[in-house]
Amino acid sequence: MALLDEIKTVISKELDEFEVHFRQSTKSSVPLLDKITYYLIKRRGKQLRPMLVFLSAGIHGKINESTYRAASLIELLHTATLVHDDVVDDAYRRRGFFSINALWKNKIAVLVGDYLLSRGLLLAINNKDFSLLEQVSTAVKKMSEGELLQIEKTRKLDISEEEYFEIIRCKTASLVAACCACGAISAGLSADKVDTMWNIGEKLGIAFQIKDDMLDYSADDIGKPTGADIKEKKMSLPLIYALQQASYVEKKQIIYAIKNHSKKTETIDKVFNFVKAKGGLEYANKKMVEYRESSRAILKELPDSEYKRSFESLINFVTERKN
Ligand code: IPE
Ligand code: IPE
Ligand code: MG
Ligand code: MG
Repeated sequence: MALLDEIKTVISKELDEFEVHFRQSTKSSVPLLDKITYYLIKRRGKQLRPMLVFLSAGIHGKINESTYRAASLIELLHTATLVHDDVVDDAYRRRGFFSINALWKNKIAVLVGDYLLSRGLLLAINNKDFSLLEQVSTAVKKMSEGELLQIEKTRKLDISEEEYFEIIRCKTASLVAACCACGAISAGLSADKVDTMWNIGEKLGIAFQIKDDMLDYSADDIGKPTGADIKEKKMSLPLIYALQQASYVEKKQIIYAIKNHSKKTETIDKVFNFVKAKGGLEYANKKMVEYRESSRAILKELPDSEYKRSFESLINFVTERKN
């Protein structure tokens, strides 16, 4: 995590203060809820989204109270969606430890997710941060659409590259774009500058999710289960590409194995080897780099500052990360 720590130095004071802010915004007088939110905070993730909010505000303006609220709002909603996502994906591990559904079961995880979501919305409403609220609510709407589109496609085991990009644009890139837009809004920037930041974030978010999908094929510990996409019959870019390269018979065999035996280790190994043999990971990597570069190209046009340099390193981190 050395690279990430280095990127954080420019905004280290802000991130420390953010932590206090964030804890405050999850506190509850219901003991079970407070215990779970405490657990969530202790196992916090990379915090890429709050970083994007602070850096986007710093790039052209001044980080202020509403920037902190934007960062908390986004991290609250991000955490809520991860808690729900692990229910949806039946995943028992998150951030190197047990997921909420693994420890407390689905019922509780669904309610905790709802609680975090509502705390985020209230934080914005109580401070009349309506533009932030609009950005983030639009992103959450997109996320739900993306997740549902994914389920629809998963059931049919039939997904084109174009549909894959539509799914990840909705389920992941929309919130990353909102981070950059909200940072800019909190600094009081004009609508066209907010749009520019949003575009940088959307491209970055797509690169981020392609990387995430490549990590599912990793042999290392990434802090959450690997091979999980195959188990859940989710087709991501490496597999979509590999299937495009395959003969009719090969394709039929792979689809059959996923359809009927997706949870078997043999199937996962078979799909891993198939994807590797067909160059699926190289292709995904190529696409990821394309999106990363288009994000970087827009950023390049902005005035130079330590925030911008740190933002650039964060863009690199997203495509080089190991978890
Ligand atoms: C995970 O996001 C969810 C996806 C959109 C793939 P992160 O990898 O940023 O999650 P944390 O917050 O660091 O755990
Ligand atoms: C990420 O989706 C969660 C959302 C964007 C809602 P995934 O299911 O692909 O991500 P991980 O791998 O569980 O983090
Ligand atoms: Mg999911
Ligand atoms: Mg998941």
